[in-house]
Amino acid sequence: MRKRVVILASGTGSLAQAILDASDLDIQVVAVVSDKADAQVLERAKQANINTSIVELKGDRPEWDKELFDQVKKYQPDLVVSAGFMKILSAEFVSYFPTINSHPALLPEFPGAHAVRDALAAGVTITGTTVHWVDAGVDTGPIITQMEVPVLPGDDEATLHERIKKVERGLIVATIALITPTLESISR
Ligand code: GRF
Repeated sequence: MRKRVVILASGTGSLAQAILDASDLDIQVVAVVSDKADAQVLERAKQANINTSIVELKGDRPEWDKELFDQVKKYQPDLVVSAGFMKILSAEFVSYFPTINSHPALLPEFPGAHAVRDALAAGVTITGTTVHWVDAGVDTGPIITQMEVPVLPGDDEATLHERIKKVERGLIVATIALITPTLESISR
């Protein structure tokens, strides 16, 4: 039974696209959910004939948390993949849905929303990317996979982030392949 996957994304969605294009994964992407109505990732989902949901934060955070939970629950995912989702997930969400996240740094180095900028500012010569289980903290859940990415002379945030994203696109697919056989299927 193919595992049901919901992707959370807020922006361009190139990581989401990598997952959608990975035809040899034993998964069915049942929805792409975004907190931004204008996110390019929603267009990518529509091109792939995949359901989309938009849950925008309109002030009341607990209400948004509940709306996101309810929207995702309706798709009955076995796994949630956060691929460039710029909101912190509630404790209730991550304790109910097995959730992984791709972070563009070698955690625990450079957690948070500006990992690439922080790595550049720190002057490191090696950074990388991490796929981890999401817990109620910020980029603090158990690490599943990591890959190193060099910082090159003349890098700025954009060139370094693109080099990292190229690695992320492969690592997120490989990591999903690694963990899907271990997932309990909710739809059993
Ligand atoms: C990725 O680098 C991810 O690690 C970070 O946001 C970026 C999303 O890129 N959280 P894209 O929108 O999938 O191109």
